Amino acid sequence: MAYGFGKVILLGEHAVVYGKGALVCGLSRGVRAEPSHASNFSLHIQPWQLRIEHGTSIATKDSREHSVAEAFCKLIESYGPTRASVAITVTVDLEPSAGLGCSAALGVALVRAINKQLGIQENSHAIEARALEWEKVFHGNPSGVDTAAATYGGLLYFSPERNVETVSATSPFFLVIAHSGQSSLTKDMVSSVKHQHEKDPRRVGVVIDGIESLVLNAKSALEQGDLEKVGTYLSLNHALLSSLLLCTPKLDEMCERAKTAGALGAKVTGAGGGGCMLALCRAQGEANAVKQALSELSALCVIESVGG
Ligand code: PMV
Repeated sequence: MAYGFGKVILLGEHAVVYGKGALVCGLSRGVRAEPSHASNFSLHIQPWQLRIEHGTSIATKDSREHSVAEAFCKLIESYGPTRASVAITVTVDLEPSAGLGCSAALGVALVRAINKQLGIQENSHAIEARALEWEKVFHGNPSGVDTAAATYGGLLYFSPERNVETVSATSPFFLVIAHSGQSSLTKDMVSSVKHQHEKDPRRVGVVIDGIESLVLNAKSALEQGDLEKVGTYLSLNHALLSSLLLCTPKLDEMCERAKTAGALGAKVTGAGGGGCMLALCRAQGEANAVKQALSELSALCVIESVGG
């Protein structure tokens, strides 16, 4: 079974598009792809009831189906002419358009499945690069943080040079991740920040630099096991993202609710404009209380344990 990890960005989304680093955490949920021999390349994404045969046109108005078909075609063509074909069946354990890295996890799982069936040995860097081409169909010009997290999993620092470094969190912690019930497209949110940057480069530049310093401080705090500081940096990161109009009243309310229930800090995660927020908790008991408080506002709320 080929796998791609889902992810949440702890700190640094959007600034990462402008060449800054980010802290990202692979999730225990993700995408599984099962390859088998076939006479043509085909893809079946079970939970979305989506079937794509390479080389056939798709008569549908569904934009997701179009994007998946286009990305799948691009991916297959990246292998050049091959004698073998692969049928891939996929199970997705991630909400799409929620900031959980669903499309990147799908890309990585598919690359691993195709490689396995075609007997191709590629290192993680090459898998990441192929999946990034897939991801471009969905997100335009992605920073690569999602595909890195989908490839490696774990707690990572995605550097300005686009390398990944494993971060060892001295104190284990819990993340409560909750969906606002509103969806948004990463492409649209990234382009909104781009327009703001073009209009007022000084203001947006200050915000991006602020996020960069929060990421670096949070990385040190994680390594030193100072979760209280990490929580403070998360909440400050939320405020900076809010100044870029990426937070909704619902996401603000969820973050406040989480902090009142005992979280050390909370923020929107991913592109924003909807999707998920996350809250940092020191212990399972705190995380349960935060989850309970957020369940009143969110239909999808999970606890992820990190480190330890
Ligand atoms: O795909 P999302 O919603 O998790 O957002 C990805 C993070 C961004 O920084 C907003 C975009 C990018 O390419 O890094």
